[in-house]
Amino acid sequence: MAIVWRDQMSVGIKEIDDDHRRLVSILNDFEAAGLRGAGAVDEGSLRTILVKLRRYTQEHFEREERLQEARHYQGYEENKEQHEWLLYRLDELVERYHAGQLGEGRAATAELSVFLKSWLIDHIIKIDLKMKGKMG
Ligand SMILES: [Fe+2]
Repeated sequence: MAIVWRDQMSVGIKEIDDDHRRLVSILNDFEAAGLRGAGAVDEGSLRTILVKLRRYTQEHFEREERLQEARHYQGYEENKEQHEWLLYRLDELVERYHAGQLGEGRAATAELSVFLKSWLIDHIIKIDLKMKGKMG
């Protein structure tokens, strides 16, 4: 099931919320591409979406860290560490997926999709929402 953006997911800073919406949309694209049609999954487009997700995640983390630093956010160091861990976890999941360790075809795509959704929700809900009202 696609992630639906909710107001409760908003950090209240436009650049960050826009990035998060974009990440949600990339993940939804991944899921849709993996489940589309009745035949074999289109490995090529899934791969392209994963590359895009990796690139955009890195850009987003950098943007978020720059903003936090500029606004002297207290949780900056903690957040930076969590970003490193999240990128590591993302790479690990995608690597396992490509290595066939999450299964084959649609089942693997569905499995990765579930992992990625909780990965993103962990980032937005558990970590970034702490910024709400503290980035003045
Ligand atoms: Fe974020």
